[in-house]
Order: sequence, then structure tokens, then C-alpha cells
Amino acid sequence: MTARGAATPTSVLLWGGTGQAKVMRPVLERSGARVVAVCDDTPDLPSPFPDVPLLRGWDGFTRWLGTQQLAGLAFLVTIGNPHGRVRLRLHDRLAEAGLTPISAVHHTAWLSESARVGTGAQIHAGAVVETGVSIGRQCIVNTRASVDHECVLEDGVEIAPGATLCGLVHVGTAAWVCAGATVLPRIRIGADAVVAAGAVVIRDVPDGATVCGVPARPMAARAVDRRDRRTRG
Ligand SMILES: CC(C)(COP(=O)(O)OP(=O)(O)OC[C@H]1O[C@@H](n2cnc3c(N)ncnc32)[C@H](O)[C@@H]1OP(=O)(O)O)[C@@H](O)C(=O)NCCC(=O)NCCS
Repeated sequence: MTARGAATPTSVLLWGGTGQAKVMRPVLERSGARVVAVCDDTPDLPSPFPDVPLLRGWDGFTRWLGTQQLAGLAFLVTIGNPHGRVRLRLHDRLAEAGLTPISAVHHTAWLSESARVGTGAQIHAGAVVETGVSIGRQCIVNTRASVDHECVLEDGVEIAPGATLCGLVHVGTAAWVCAGATVLPRIRIGADAVVAAGAVVIRDVPDGATVCGVPARPMAARAVDRRDRRTRG
């Protein structure tokens, strides 16, 4: 299950054992891949799938890896934002451990032939990725999100369900455009910025800022914990 139809590794480890794992498993399995393990470091979390083992954190993963053949073993990090930087760190660690990063594209997503999709990216059901778009490593274009012509998503970005990026928008590393937000043409969203659900962004957003409302303005207080302390997020 790669964006451009490269060979599909048979066995996939999902890192992150909650909703996104449930959403991505059928996407992978439709393409002939098989989910063989899920890893998560949340205490007491049950496996999202009764037929797939849950590995506890990095220790559980390394013990399990010792029992596996590396050839054909791939991974997909199934953790959403605000943990884009956690996804990027896991991407590097898992690749160093010898697993192959894959990207996953739902069969109902529309992806322009000229769009570039980085490794580890996820394009969900009904998403539209238009001509000339560049999507970095470990980005998520979630359900029915629309990314219009020549947008650039740097690594670790998530465009949440139903969000719309007009043409030529630039989204910085690990930024999060939340559900149903709209970003007008040529706007620049800074690294680690958050665009709240339903916002309409008419001006550039600085690095690390959170904006909300119509038109979007800086949010006074920010409770979301974006510190990058855990492997899961
Ligand atoms: C932007 C966001 C992440 C901020 O979360 P947070 O820091 O926990 O914010 P809080 O819930 O503490 O709210 C802080 C203030 O902002 C307001 N606020 C929160 N979200 C808002 C929004 N989308 N639009 C306008 N105001 C909003 C709250 O009412 C609150 O105001 P108050 O202090 O006057 O009561 C969150 O509000 C949001 O939009 N989440 C969407 C998540 C999403 O799209 N998930 C998709 C997963 S697939």
C-alpha cells in the first residue's frame, strides 16, 4: 500500500493502537498487506483488534522484533496530530530498526498524478489532493479533506477531516489544520501552528500559534499539550 503502487510489503506494524489504527487497517488490507502487530505505550490499552497482538512501547517492540524476519516488514505510524513530531521521531527510529516506512491511500481518495506524497503519509477516504501538491513525510490528509493545487505540506502535518486548503497554501512542519477549517489561497501556516476547528484563515499564521474563529485570530489560552515526551503521543 504505497501511494504510487510500489511493491506492497506483506506484513505491517501499526504504531498507535486507537482510532487511527482501526481506520487504517482496512485500507492496508484492501491492498493485500497484513497487519501483524500494533504497538502502543498507553498503560492498560487493549489491542484494537482481537486477532492482532499489542506490543507495549519500545521494549515490547524490540522483544517482538527479535522473533521476526525483517524482510518485508513495514510500518505505519497511526497517531494523529498534535503529535506530528512524535510521528516523525518514530519514523526515524523504526526505519533505523530496519522496518520499511509505507504510505497508505484510501481507494476513494483522489490523488493527482502530479502530486508528490512522502513516505509514511496517510490519505484517508474521500480526500482530494490536487495537481502539483507536495506532501512531506508522515503527513495525514484526513477524511474528506481537500488540498488544492500546489499546496506544500511539510513533514508531520495533519489536515483534519473536512478541512480545506485553497491553492498554494504552505503548511509548516507538524502544523495541524483542524476539522472543517478553511485556509485561503497563498496563506502560510507556521511550523507547529494549530488552526482550530471551523476557523477561516485569511492571514499568515506564525510558528507555534493557535488561531480560531471567522476570520481566524490568535486563541488566548492554549490547553493542548504538544510536548513531545512520549513515543505514542
Ligand atoms: C484548537 C484546539 C485543538 C484547541 O484545543 P484546546 O487548547 O484544548 O482548547 P480548549 O478546549 O481548552 O479551549 C480554549 C478556548 O478556546 C475556545 N475554542 C476551542 N476550540 C475552538 C474553536 N474550534 N473555535 C473557536 N473557539 C474555540 C474554547 O471555547 C475556549 O474558550 P474559553 O477559554 O473562552 O472558554 C481545539 O479546540 C480544536 O479545534 N480541536 C479540533 C480537533 C480536530 O479537528 N480533531 C480531528 C481529529 S481526526
